[in-house]
Amino acid sequence: MTPADCPEKPVVDLRSDTLTRPSAGMRKAMAGAEVGDDVYGEDPTVKRLETVAAEMLGKPCALFLPTGTMANLVAFLAQTRPGDSIILSESAHPIHYENANLSMVAGLLPCVIHDALGKFTADQVEQRIVREDDPHLSWTTLVSVENTTNRGGGACWELHEMESIAALCRRHGMRLHCDGARIFNACAVTNIEARYYAKCCDTLCFCLSKGLGAPAGSLLAGDPETMHKALRFRKMLGGGMRQSGILAAAGLYALEHHLGDLAEDHRRARRFRQALEAEGFEFCLPSPTNILYIRVENSLRAVKTLKRRGVLTLAHGQDQIRAVFHRDIDDKAMEDAIECFKQALALPR
Ligand SMILES: Cc1ncc(COP(=O)(O)O)c(C=O)c1O
Repeated sequence: MTPADCPEKPVVDLRSDTLTRPSAGMRKAMAGAEVGDDVYGEDPTVKRLETVAAEMLGKPCALFLPTGTMANLVAFLAQTRPGDSIILSESAHPIHYENANLSMVAGLLPCVIHDALGKFTADQVEQRIVREDDPHLSWTTLVSVENTTNRGGGACWELHEMESIAALCRRHGMRLHCDGARIFNACAVTNIEARYYAKCCDTLCFCLSKGLGAPAGSLLAGDPETMHKALRFRKMLGGGMRQSGILAAAGLYALEHHLGDLAEDHRRARRFRQALEAEGFEFCLPSPTNILYIRVENSLRAVKTLKRRGVLTLAHGQDQIRAVFHRDIDDKAMEDAIECFKQALALPR
């Protein structure tokens, strides 16, 4: 969507939680950040953020990267070789939204598992593993899980589900990566601390720039050897930043002040859903966190109709639209969105 397509003053922007803007406190923290050149390893604020993230995830090291896309790619590069195969969900973010970088840049053959929630079981993984020494075949060296799942409606993994996949990976000498772009949304629902999810995985990354409200930045955590490789790949991809302490300060602020607000986003998503279900709207997935998919007759037409009334959503296929709740949507905006949906997309009773 170009700025010209947007209404002048959107009432409610539900397109994505990436739309969150830095809060006043966050901007102040950024302005006052102590900085250095992080490519020389001299930015104290970046170092602090990496230490805090590593501690939160119970891993020895963490690395600050500009985006979640780069965090995933660096994790793949650091734990595979070109020509290997990676097992992940058919709806995983790298399959749909990262411009085939896992094949183009990391040289990986994706082996996908279909599931509406974007999750899978250890049995499903086991059926797809290739480890025998056959020159025809591409070795499976990495499994990647997404928590929460973006296209799966913000579904969360239970710990035992991830633990059984982790055990399988260990048995077969494969690595396990978690794209935890929204891991803290999962934690808020399952009450499982991020460190327990991270314990199952060799690497886990999370984003600061989604529901947590920072303007940019992701953290990738893992063991020292893998993270040393990750540092080299980050530089290779052009992700070495200089005075990035300004961004890291936003991240530290988000982890300190915004984490607790994710549960509020989930509460608003639930209220929005219940109010519209009562009006006969159909929601396509269970959606325990902040990402909702709503069935409509014609997605492009529905997006346009809502937009004219000041509510922005995204078309998802031909008959679904996506609405994502985030910290810039307060109770009033949520109630306004409910009214707008009712009026704009009124269903025959
Ligand atoms: C699950 C998931 N992984 C990775 C990313 C990529 O993050 P970024 O936009 O920072 O590259 C996103 C972005 O929305 C996402 O939803």
